[in-house]
Formats: sequence, structure tokens, C-alpha cells
Amino acid sequence: MSLGKSYGGSNVGVGETHVAAGPEVDVVDGASALSRAETERLITEATPDLSVFGPDIVAKAAILIGRYPESRSALLPMLHLVQSVEGHVSQAGVQFCAQQLNLTNAEVSAVVTFYTMFKRKPCGEHLVSVCTNTLCAMLGGDAIFQRLGEHLGEEGRPLGHEDTSGTPGEPGSITIEHAECLAACDLGPVLQVNYEFYDNQTPESAVELVDALRRGEKPAPTRGAPLTDLRSVALQLAGFFPEDEATYRSHVDGPSAAVETLRGAQLAADRGWTAPTMPENTPALPEVEKK
Ligand code: FES
Repeated sequence: MSLGKSYGGSNVGVGETHVAAGPEVDVVDGASALSRAETERLITEATPDLSVFGPDIVAKAAILIGRYPESRSALLPMLHLVQSVEGHVSQAGVQFCAQQLNLTNAEVSAVVTFYTMFKRKPCGEHLVSVCTNTLCAMLGGDAIFQRLGEHLGEEGRPLGHEDTSGTPGEPGSITIEHAECLAACDLGPVLQVNYEFYDNQTPESAVELVDALRRGEKPAPTRGAPLTDLRSVALQLAGFFPEDEATYRSHVDGPSAAVETLRGAQLAADRGWTAPTMPENTPALPEVEKK
């Protein structure tokens, strides 16, 4: 398919949709002009409504910007901040970040599209990330993803990567995704809900977990902070936590390293093994030339 002249330039970035006006309409395959509805949709995307980012979000953005010597360095936490508002990074979110940080929409979009943690379509209340990287896949990760997709799908259509069961953002809605290695290979197959770990999973335990989420329950992760929801986690990732110590602790405290992960260190401690000390005549590392 070829697109008409309005899309032919190289300067059109995500969030910078160009729309032809008046008689200068786009032509698709030389056949038909854009419909009025399609034109209006593109105009809406090009001029998103930023009112969803109210004074409290503008104030938080200012706090983030103040944490860095250069305002543009605040982009990653800013993107988590806008994701905490809408559950994904919309065109409005891209434009909000660009305005706040004095960047172009294309510069912000380049970052959004690089990092998989920034979602470009609305997500569920919970994000379930199933590790289907090599080790977990062989231990059952692929089977877990397939089973969840079938269980959460409707009318015989299984969910796929980044598909959502229920209405995005509504209570009990769940988005599933494939995840690359989650750095918990010793506990595989693993999955995460809103980036909290559930170790040693099976298709059956994963189905029980998502059913509990759909009922509004928050089963305790195997390790890490108590379970919350995707938007709340996005706000934490942006760097905002409750200020009083007790509430802060209740949001972040949880079991940390797993027994399996510490087994080697524990064996060494039990048997009194220690690493040999460095011999005194060990040659010094060569000087590294200053840049
Ligand atoms: S392969 Fe799944 S955590 Fe490493």
C-alpha cells in the first residue's frame, strides 16, 4: 500500500501526524480520499486534549524536573507519571512530556517506543507479564502464557501479547504480555503482576492467580512489595511514595531474596567456605587512559 503525499515526508514522527486540509486530501492507493471520520480522528490525535493532566500532575512534573540538572533527564520518570494517569502513554501523554521538558513530540516518542514498560494502548488494572524467555519457556512459561490467553479470551479467541481481558482500567481487567528474562531463572517459570514476582508457576497456579485478580483480590507476591495495581506502580516508578514512614513501609516492604537464590551463599556459610584473599604480589590493574 502506498500513501499519498501528506505521509511521504521524513519529518513525521509519532505524535506529529500531518493531516492535509481542504482539497489537499490524502490518497490511498490512488483510490479514495480519507473519510471525514478518519480525518477527524487524525486531527484529534494531532491535537490531543491535555486536560487529563491536571494541576496535581503538573506539580509532580515540576518536582521531577527539579531532581535533575537538565530537564530532559526527567523524561523516563515523566513517562511513568503520565502512565500513572491514563494507564498507558497516549498521544496526550507524549505531548505533555514534550511541553514540560522542552522536547519535540518525536524525541519523546522515540523513547516511548524503545522501552517496553511504556504501553502505547490502554492496559488493564493489572499487567501480567509471563516470562517466555528460553529457560522459563522450557520449564513451562510458554504453556502458562497459552493457558492464560485461552482462559482470559472470549468466544474461543485467546488473548495474545498485550491484549486485555475486560475494559482497560476497570477493576478486574487484565492485560497479558510476553516478557523477556525477568532475572529469576532459578525460580522459573516465573511471572510478574505489575512487576511483582510470582515464582515457580504452573498453568494451573497462573489461572488461579488471574481469577483472584478478577475477583478483586490481591494475592501476595512470592517476593517484593505487596500487590497494588498498574497505575499505582507507575506512580511509584515515577518516584512518588507516601511520605509518612509507616505507610511508605506498607507500600514497599516484603520478602526479598528467595531461598533458592541464596542457597550457594548459605552452603558456603554452613561449611565455613570463604574466598581466598588476594595475593599481595598481584599486579595492579593497568591505568586507564582518561577520556
Ligand atoms: S528465563 Fe525466565 S527469569 Fe530468566
